[in-house]
Amino acid sequence: MPKLTWIGHAAFILEDGDNMVLIDPFITGNPVTTHTADQLSPRTILLTHAHDDHVGDTVAIAKRTGAKVISTFELGIWLNEVQGVEGATPANHGGTVEFEGGTVKLTPAWHTSSYQVGDTFVAPGIPAGLVVRFGGKTIYFAGDTCLFGDMTLIGEEGLDVAVLPIGDHYTMGPADAVRAAELLKAKTVIPGHYNTFDLISQDGHDFKRQVEARTSSKVALLAPGESLTL
Ligand code: NI
Ligand code: MN
Repeated sequence: MPKLTWIGHAAFILEDGDNMVLIDPFITGNPVTTHTADQLSPRTILLTHAHDDHVGDTVAIAKRTGAKVISTFELGIWLNEVQGVEGATPANHGGTVEFEGGTVKLTPAWHTSSYQVGDTFVAPGIPAGLVVRFGGKTIYFAGDTCLFGDMTLIGEEGLDVAVLPIGDHYTMGPADAVRAAELLKAKTVIPGHYNTFDLISQDGHDFKRQVEARTSSKVALLAPGESLTL
């Protein structure tokens, strides 16, 4: 039975005993995380986009562990050629990539993607969502995105879990995330990308009430460090 642990913001650990996968591992500087980067030894890191609150500790962890790092194309090239991440695996929307224990298909996400180096921004690639098949389950990480109609197509993948941002300001807020849940039809919805700092503070309990009133999905509210067995 795979286990999904929220470690704050958009960072998650997916593990099944044999394999550990990290998603968007923003740990150092994350005000709500319960983990440290050097305690995690994943075989795989999945990235939705290049913003620092998603790439986070990827370079340090990947260099220490040799993890495979799967992302959209330009971010993968940048991680490999500029940052020296040997396991960087550039892919793109619609493509499915295998990793130890599962696969990931990259989907569109409506957002931007850049990385700050000093006082300039480099712009490696465009953002993605992730449809992850792992331990017999299908988990969609929407990444940072607004609501978009093609979430209906992603829902047709047959989702056990949909991880949705609800923080507003940089991503969709709770009202649009409820509409996303209506399109995705996942068995379980997990909100993320909220309550990391004041600008994205939201009421998870109110989101849960609305989703469960308007869809047949259940909402699992995790606190940072808390896990859900899938
Ligand atoms: Ni972002
Ligand atoms: Mn973000």
